[in-house]
Amino acid sequence: MVYKKTNESTSDLMTIIQERKKARNAIILAHNYQIDEVQDAADFVGDSLELSRKAADTSADVIVFCGVHFMAETAKILSPQKTVLIPDIKAGCPMADMITVEKLRAFKAKYPGRPVVAYVNTSAEVKAEVDICCTSANAVKIVDSVDADEILFVPDKCLADYVAARTTKKIIPFSGFCPTHHRILPEQILKQKELHPNAIVIAHPECTRAVLDLADGIFSTSGMIRFVDESPEKEFIVATELGILHRLKRSHPDKSFYSPSEQTVCPNMKKITLEKLAWSLEDMQYPIELPQEIIEKARGSIERMIAVT
Ligand code: 13P
Ligand code: SF4
Repeated sequence: MVYKKTNESTSDLMTIIQERKKARNAIILAHNYQIDEVQDAADFVGDSLELSRKAADTSADVIVFCGVHFMAETAKILSPQKTVLIPDIKAGCPMADMITVEKLRAFKAKYPGRPVVAYVNTSAEVKAEVDICCTSANAVKIVDSVDADEILFVPDKCLADYVAARTTKKIIPFSGFCPTHHRILPEQILKQKELHPNAIVIAHPECTRAVLDLADGIFSTSGMIRFVDESPEKEFIVATELGILHRLKRSHPDKSFYSPSEQTVCPNMKKITLEKLAWSLEDMQYPIELPQEIIEKARGSIERMIAVT
């Protein structure tokens, strides 16, 4: 196995990945939280909504998804005829795991007759039993598009709370949360503001309300990048996973970015490495497989979302 050596340099691995990608007619998609080298190896880096759109659009035969499992599943649901690979099958999302189909059914049974909006951070099986999906970039718009006054929102209670403050509809939240964003504390933001009084605070809506209340702007990961691109400001306190700092710093070497805490790391996002990406293309591992019935039902929820945004 030529590529299974562990002593290649980063530039050797980059070359191997690009050659193998060409041979497989593959595209590499990476989330904004991936490690720097994986972002650099990717054809496209983005947030969940942008990555779903790319996965639906590409003419490549193979999609290698550098992110977490639900993101690769979404790519498979949108492009079922393609091979979708995730370089580490154990890269899951603990928030997505907080809602199972059984828990969803119990939640629906407790509040009958209400439509369900599901954050894309859910399994394909859960997506197959909801009315429409949303991402952090379009959650308010999606909720407003649903023809009902009361809506069940799964699984993220923080995103639900963020949406509830921006819609006239009654949001009934499930109890999930992102363990990584929960590590960001208001006192850490206040400390950074003290150290950098001119800095603008930008936050991801998976943060708690106490953190969001201190933010000047609340965005999806790519929304944060666009905000910084367009802002004349020079200093930013960035309340989300640390991986996003790579793109921000690379695009804006003249600007300064401060993280509220060095602990704001999603261990699952960091499971994908350059070696695993190279091995994935070599061995065609690990393919996402889903039952046809689940693909069809889940696709409806995702396509309804894409049609709204
Ligand atoms: P974005 O869609 O904003 O990139 O967020 C995905 C995610 O998992 C955040 O934790
Ligand atoms: Fe899941 Fe949170 Fe990691 Fe995003 S940052 S993948 S929501 S655990």
